[in-house]
This record gives sequence, C-alpha cells and structure tokens, in this order.
Amino acid sequence: MQTRTVALLATLLLSCGVHAADAPPPATIPAVPLKPVTLPDDANKPLLLRACAVCHPIEMVVQRKRPVEEWERQVARMVGFGAVASEAEQDRIIDYLERWFSQSP
Ligand code: HEC
Repeated sequence: MQTRTVALLATLLLSCGVHAADAPPPATIPAVPLKPVTLPDDANKPLLLRACAVCHPIEMVVQRKRPVEEWERQVARMVGFGAVASEAEQDRIIDYLERWFSQSP
C-alpha cells in the first residue's frame, strides 16, 4: 500500500472519530456474567431464538424484565445493529418479551 493511501485511510479513521458523538454506541458485547434463564415455550419463541441469539447469547436479552416501551426501543436498536426481523416479526418478538419478560407496573 502506498504511503499516500495509508495517510488517506488514517485521515478517514480520524474523521470517523470526530463524528463519534452522532454515531450509535459501539456495537461490542459487554463481557458480563449471565445468569441462566428459562424461556417459556410459545409460538414466538423460535423466532426470538432465531433473531436475537445471533450476536449475543439469548440470556443477555432476558436477564431482567423491562417495560414494553423499553422492549420496543431495544428491538428497534437491535434492528439498527443488523438483527434480521420483518416488521411483523419484530411485533411478535415484542409480544413474546412483553408476555414473559415484562415488568409489572
Ligand atoms: C447484529 C447483532 C445483534 C443482534 C442480531 C441482536 N443484538 Fe441485542 N445487542 C447487540 C449488541 C452489540 C449489544 C450490546 C451493546 C448495546 O447494548 O448497545 C446488544 C445488547 C442487547 C441488550 C442489552 C441492552 C442493555 O442496555 O441492557 C438487549 C436487551 C438486546 N440486545 C436485545 C436483543 C433482541 C431482543 C434481539 C432480537 C430482536 C437482539 N438483541 C438481537 C447486538 C445484537
């Protein structure tokens, strides 16, 4: 690689850093200890496992209960990260999480 190309790449990398405040959080999986979780069986469970156990263990998703608004927000964030689920599938995933892992008010 030519010196000029290397310099250009370095400049590009640096300019990405300048805009880091606008970018989504870095997509790294935090290394936190996970407690084992039992996922209740229902029609949407296979979909949850297919879409949400790709980048991190499914345990990481359901470590704690969350209000449904937060599930909606998290599923949208994950789609932004590259989770593969159609709108209808996202709804079914949110239904599952709301049904089994939602905070009581
Ligand atoms: C393309 C990779 C990817 C897929 C697929 C994915 N996630 Fe994630 N997820 C991440 C990353 C990276 C993090 C950690 C960084 C973060 O939370 O910003 C994370 C963290 C999480 C967290 C913890 C957030 C917190 O702050 O406590 C939840 C909950 C979660 N994911 C839910 C889901 C659900 C639900 C799905 C399925 C719709 C899903 N994930 C699919 C990449 C993914």
